[in-house]
Amino acid sequence: MVKVLFVCLGNICRSPLAEALFRHKIEEKQLSNCIVCDSAGITWHHVGQPPDERMRRVANDRGITISSKARLLRKDDLFEFDYVLPMDGENLDAIDALRGRCGGCVSKIKLMREFDTNAESKNVPDPYYGGEEGFGEVFDILNRSTENLLDFVVKEHYL
Ligand code: 4NP
Repeated sequence: MVKVLFVCLGNICRSPLAEALFRHKIEEKQLSNCIVCDSAGITWHHVGQPPDERMRRVANDRGITISSKARLLRKDDLFEFDYVLPMDGENLDAIDALRGRCGGCVSKIKLMREFDTNAESKNVPDPYYGGEEGFGEVFDILNRSTENLLDFVVKEHYL
């Protein structure tokens, strides 16, 4: 079983969408017995909350249901998950700091946009303080990136 974790700041916009998209693609390819995923945030402000309503609406309009509850990234995640995908450099720095406090980690850590063939930036933009179009842009970025990530994981582990 390959385990993949998506990480963002609050775990209510970007990483829950990445999780839902990735799971949708896993199910489409009938790989649910081989690959699982989850998401987490680096701050506690929204812990226990459902995904942001604007993110849910944009995803729903495109046929994707997001139904996770926000949780905090924990040390154990860096030993449990094979891949950890931060959405931006700030998330990556927080993971690196946690890794330093753990004295290492097992997970391979890669910025999400390493898997975006159209990337103009290394970051998935934070849509929280912006307008609806920002959520649409995040959807397009994560739709492309999770598709390429799934191809990558399948090639690394199963082909
Ligand atoms: P996310 O978006 O990291 O993609 O879940 C945000 C959620 C909440 C906040 C910022 C970004 N916030 O400042 O509360």
